[in-house]
Amino acid sequence: MPELQEKLATVATILRHAREIVVLTGAGVSAESGVPTFRDAMTGLWSRYDPMQLATPEAFERNPELVWNWYAWRRGLVAQAEPNPAHHALAALETRHPAFTLVTQNVDRLHQRAGSTQVVELHGNLEENRCSRENRVVPTDRTPAGTPPLCQHCGSPLRPNVVWFGEPLPAKALERAFLAARRCDLLLCIGTSSLVYPAAALPTEALGQGATVVEINADTTPLTPHASYHLQDKAGELVPQLVTLAYPETSDAGIRS
Ligand code: OAD
Repeated sequence: MPELQEKLATVATILRHAREIVVLTGAGVSAESGVPTFRDAMTGLWSRYDPMQLATPEAFERNPELVWNWYAWRRGLVAQAEPNPAHHALAALETRHPAFTLVTQNVDRLHQRAGSTQVVELHGNLEENRCSRENRVVPTDRTPAGTPPLCQHCGSPLRPNVVWFGEPLPAKALERAFLAARRCDLLLCIGTSSLVYPAAALPTEALGQGATVVEINADTTPLTPHASYHLQDKAGELVPQLVTLAYPETSDAGIRS
């Protein structure tokens, strides 16, 4: 059996017998849905755009229209995207495990569209806006390009409800994620470069408590040498295989390709 298949079989057994599971996802899990990652060479957003001009509170203050329009473009990309087999497999996994937490750095809500319900959003989401002054969250009914709409209460421009560089993460989401990482006995870290903190600290936290940490990534990352297992291939290939191996009796458990 090739090495990857052997590792998959081993991890599938661990998955099946896990008491409490945390899954941490990053942009790589949505790459096969056509949503660009941030740091992949050539296709990554940060290889083409300067985050300091587009994803900081200062950038929004300086040029709200530029930032708003860049997010309108990203919202358009996400609206056209569909969840891929990795999203579907994770939604199916949740139905198998009562103690399951899916922590994501993604703002595209493709996990929820695939049917996941236990999703902790660390970096916010593109579906909502919030007031740039008072932080009041406003469901997004108007996101066309142009000038940002204004808050009905204070008249300040609305901004996407995402976390920008230099901003704190939502406290409740962060607390839930760290509590779950400390409690779990298995953490699957899928499609993230493991470069951005505090999210990148979650696998280390789990390892520190004796959990098994499995990295699924098309490439290697700073986590790779520390992970208990590194499964190197596309998430859309590996995650459905893993869930099917762990639960052969429910091989079509919501996993669509
Ligand atoms: P990155 O773009 O930094 O990393 C994506 C990771 O996914 C890389 O390690 C790739 O090797 C891997 N990858 C790409 N395609 C894959 C595939 N099909 N299957 C499996 N792995 C694949 O994205 P994140 O780690 O999510 O923050 O970035 C973290 C944060 O940095 C983002 O949430 C965003 C960004 O700045 C904010 O905007 C606050």
